[in-house]
Amino acid sequence: MSTNTEEGKVFKPEDYSKSFDPEAYLQFYFSKDSIEDGTRVSLFALPVFAHLMIQSMRPNERETLLDIGAGPTVYSALCFRDVAKKVYLSDYVDRNLDVLRKWTKGENTIDWKPTIKVIIRTEGGHPPTDAVIDVVEGKARGTVKSGGIHFADVHLPRPVPDLPVDQVDILVTIFTLESACRNYEEYCSCVNNMLGLLRSGGRFVLGSVLDDDTYNSGKQMIFHLLNLRENQILDALENAGLDMNSIKKYVLEGEGVMFLMGTKL
Ligand SMILES: C[S@@+](CC[C@H](N)C(=O)[O-])C[C@H]1O[C@@H](n2cnc3c(N)ncnc32)[C@H](O)[C@@H]1O
Repeated sequence: MSTNTEEGKVFKPEDYSKSFDPEAYLQFYFSKDSIEDGTRVSLFALPVFAHLMIQSMRPNERETLLDIGAGPTVYSALCFRDVAKKVYLSDYVDRNLDVLRKWTKGENTIDWKPTIKVIIRTEGGHPPTDAVIDVVEGKARGTVKSGGIHFADVHLPRPVPDLPVDQVDILVTIFTLESACRNYEEYCSCVNNMLGLLRSGGRFVLGSVLDDDTYNSGKQMIFHLLNLRENQILDALENAGLDMNSIKKYVLEGEGVMFLMGTKL
């Protein structure tokens, strides 16, 4: 993930509001070409976690799902469309929230069809027709319309201040904490803040980059990452009240990422 611009500029956590470019990010990671060229590990891990949730939680135990730091992406809503009735998507950057609002209204953002095809393939489905793809996207859009689009700042004691419920059943956060935090102390405090929004017995899903300092957010805009080892992440989660015996974890060494799901004590 870490190449550098010619100028060598690395954007910092405090630069997100001003410098994160949603279109460049979507183009770089979720355009048809990049989906077909590369592996989006999230699109393999999240459908597996969704399946496990459907198997292990009754419908009334999985009504609400919050994604913190969704950016301009809706793939969590696509992957969890059959899990929860209400999906709250949240992010720190207003421009990302605008892209998400456009999508809920059915206005043009990026074409999510290539992403949906990968999700359906991971779910074990046949190559979908356009009609099936529309049903999947429509269902996901419905869950987000029920939950809404919200501002989030993981540094706040309550990271999604206008969340309409005290706590959710499922909390998802992918590649956000290592982007937003400058040091490990901050990271631990943000993990605590986040887990305050999850009910006891609810599921936490984390996607994290491991052992890396930067990533390309598109158009060679390089952003800083907090360099984290797997053990540091697990320690932070244990201290914040996650049941370590419940953890299902995928570490993809080649990709430098880890995905895990666990239950809050
Ligand atoms: C690498 S992107 C990940 C986006 C998306 N989750 C994904 O998997 O593609 C990092 C995201 O963290 C968000 N972010 C940065 N600082 C944040 C903060 N203090 N609170 C919440 N989100 C933040 C950014 O706006 C950006 O959308």
